[in-house]
Amino acid sequence: MVPLLLLFLVHLTIFPGSISALDFLFNSFFNATDFIQLIDDARLDSSVLRLTNDSNQLSIGRAFHRSRLRMKPTSNSTQISSFSTSFVFSILPEISTSPGFGLVFVLSNTTEPDGALSGQYFGLFSNATVPAIVPLLAVEFDVGQNPEFNDPNNNHVGIDLNNVESKKTADAGYYNSTSASANLIPVNMRNGQNIHAWIDLDGPQFEINVTIAPLGVSRPPRPLLTFRDPVIANYVSSEMYVGFSASKTTWVEAQRVLAWSFSDTGVARDINTTNLPVFSLETSSSSLSPGAIAGITIGSVFVLILCLSACYYWFCGKNKMKEQEYDDDEIEDWELEYWPHRFSYEELILATKGFSANELLGAGGFGRVYKGTLPNDTQVAVKCVSHDSKQGLREFMAEISSMGRLQHKNLVQMRGWCRKRNELMLVYDYMPNGSLNRWIFDKPKKLMNWEGRRRVLSDVAEGLNYLHHGWDQVVIHRDIKSSNILLDNDMRGRLGDFGLAKLYTHGEAPNTTRVVGTLGYLAPELATVAAPTAASDVYSFGVVVLEVVCGRRPIEPSKDREEEVVLIDWVREKYVERRVWEAADERIKGEYKVEDVEAVLKLGLACCHPDPLHRPTMREVVAVLVGDEAAAVPRFLLSEVTEDRSNIGDGGGDKAGEELSPPQVLV
Ligand SMILES: *[C@@H]1O[C@H](CO)[C@@H](O)[C@H](O)[C@H]1NC(C)=O
Ligand SMILES: *[C@@H]1O[C@H](CO)[C@@H](O)[C@H](O)[C@H]1NC(C)=O
Ligand SMILES: *[C@@H]1O[C@H](CO)[C@@H](O)[C@H](O)[C@H]1NC(C)=O
Ligand SMILES: *[C@@H]1O[C@H](CO)[C@@H](O)[C@H](O)[C@H]1NC(C)=O
Ligand SMILES: *[C@@H]1O[C@H](CO)[C@@H](O)[C@H](O)[C@H]1NC(C)=O
Ligand SMILES: *[C@@H]1O[C@H](CO)[C@@H](O)[C@H](O)[C@H]1NC(C)=O
Ligand SMILES: *[C@@H]1O[C@H](CO)[C@@H](O)[C@H](O)[C@H]1NC(C)=O
Ligand SMILES: *[C@@H]1O[C@H](CO)[C@@H](O)[C@H](O)[C@H]1NC(C)=O
Repeated sequence: MVPLLLLFLVHLTIFPGSISALDFLFNSFFNATDFIQLIDDARLDSSVLRLTNDSNQLSIGRAFHRSRLRMKPTSNSTQISSFSTSFVFSILPEISTSPGFGLVFVLSNTTEPDGALSGQYFGLFSNATVPAIVPLLAVEFDVGQNPEFNDPNNNHVGIDLNNVESKKTADAGYYNSTSASANLIPVNMRNGQNIHAWIDLDGPQFEINVTIAPLGVSRPPRPLLTFRDPVIANYVSSEMYVGFSASKTTWVEAQRVLAWSFSDTGVARDINTTNLPVFSLETSSSSLSPGAIAGITIGSVFVLILCLSACYYWFCGKNKMKEQEYDDDEIEDWELEYWPHRFSYEELILATKGFSANELLGAGGFGRVYKGTLPNDTQVAVKCVSHDSKQGLREFMAEISSMGRLQHKNLVQMRGWCRKRNELMLVYDYMPNGSLNRWIFDKPKKLMNWEGRRRVLSDVAEGLNYLHHGWDQVVIHRDIKSSNILLDNDMRGRLGDFGLAKLYTHGEAPNTTRVVGTLGYLAPELATVAAPTAASDVYSFGVVVLEVVCGRRPIEPSKDREEEVVLIDWVREKYVERRVWEAADERIKGEYKVEDVEAVLKLGLACCHPDPLHRPTMREVVAVLVGDEAAAVPRFLLSEVTEDRSNIGDGGGDKAGEELSPPQVLV
């Protein structure tokens, strides 16, 4: 292969015993091993620095210059030095709709930061909710939207101070004039195009400027993002490694750095961008070597011959083929558009030992679920769903494929799928601890304690909040119940089966749409409107809250008193009698603070309000369950509490009376 680029200049001045100026320019990464330290999956791939490895499910890669940068005169100084850097990077996903990750430019006092995680954490940050102050300063080029980190969108630049949640962000783009009214010209950072980035840190001013532009556009006169705050000094130590970090999960995304210039004594030298390689799906053939082209030519001839023979056989064997169950395993075009990974039927047979009865985990409304083991020893759950129309399956796949993009710690992650005739097999992460209902009802010896229950409720609330508000379109779960809440290794709650209910409403005439869901969890308005909404999900969530706190199923026909049959009515009655805490599960008595139980039960009741408009949103629910309760006293609880005091139970038809009226339960 002809070297397209030359290693222009690697200039490094090292004074013995002390770190001095750091000034270098890699116009390509040929022969840069002596200067670059590679951590984990990072590789020098001929002329470029490649951060992650496609074949690893979870991949982390970091690359640092071997020499450290002096950032402070002494470790306790509050003065920090300045530097200037520019580099060219490219982020190319295998599937453009897959979840994005991105990369960061980083300054760190260690090449192995504590608790660094893959996935959306860039292989650099930890998931600590209150990150420690350690010397780690990064500029993220983030192409995934993680609402839990307050990401504004899936294409932004941010300043991170040892925390994946940015201090400041800006949509990716550039301004081509310094005037304040200049419009941002957007730049897509996730289509493989080469992007030139400039980062300038002005130490005395504690100011960082970040500028980006597509390669070919000269340096924009105005920075995209300016962050100015003396707090930066806390995240800088006297000597720091400088480099890049990235990570990915199941979905392939190639994060590359093509050239890098750095200086701590002045402005970083210009990169010669004329001959940088281009990585994009369209132009990937442009960098092929003559050998590869020859190979392809020979290959094409071969394929042509194969096609001709195939045609010949096809014509001869046409009649015979017609008789076979032709569309059995044939992959149709539309199926290829979908992802995550499409498993072959054989792979799943192997994984589940031929769908053996021993591997059966359960059989529910939507089909059977088998436990499986993939060749790499990963355990999965394979859910088999059958449907009588392929059209229905197809629409469902469209839905699922968009849901495959939903990634949240409180959702059961889908790994892939397979179709065989009208049967769809969905492959999910295996949840070793089974479903929540078993820990409340079926295991008298291993009953879940109050702390565990409360944590799972918060987890589920966060997962559902993500479905409702974390995505550009609202995703309605439609079937929230305790048996759809699964517990992972750490006994954290995860919501499963989202969207499955929809399969059963697709393809039917709108006026005959059946209500799908589970009795006892269905919001009353579904009896008449039959169109599930986010509010009807909130209702079902409210039922789960009551169920988990009271340790009682939503409907228990065995109860003698009619009022006790329906859980909501019973709790509501207790509430009217101002003894709501009495509804809590007897078996966990003494483990909780009465106020805490009371607050959660009230929240459950608020979610089960008969009028959908009076129910809180999941965002509000999360604020109560997870957030700082004092800071986020939501309106529904406030109004309830104030009206509570006036004239509860006198049935005067005022708002309080109305809120407490029993719901019409759908039976
Ligand atoms: C890289 O190093 C090898 C051997 O030292 C040398 O032959 C080659 O020309 C170098 N490549 C570049 C681009 O400098
Ligand atoms: C990626 O990882 C696989 C398995 O861990 C390894 O065999 C392969 O060499 C790696 N590829 C690169 C480019 O590092
Ligand atoms: C910094 O620490 C050194 C000793 O480690 C001490 O002599 C010096 O006074 C300290 N400077 C400040 C500003 O605290
Ligand atoms: C952080 O990640 C670790 C390792 O994956 C996990 O054990 C821990 O529970 C996580 N903590 C939080 C707060 O999510
Ligand atoms: C990096 O900084 C942290 C926190 O200040 C410190 O505990 C750690 O020892 C430092 N590591 C190195 C390699 O200097
Ligand atoms: C900035 O970009 C806009 C749109 O591309 C163009 O119309 C305008 O002339 C540019 N201005 C300058 C100063 O280059
Ligand atoms: C950052 O940008 C601002 C506004 O353009 C400019 O005034 C300042 O000098 C820049 N600072 C650095 C460190 O480049
Ligand atoms: C950039 O590199 C090309 C060859 O790759 C060379 O022809 C050109 O003169 C260089 N430009 C500058 C400004 O050095």
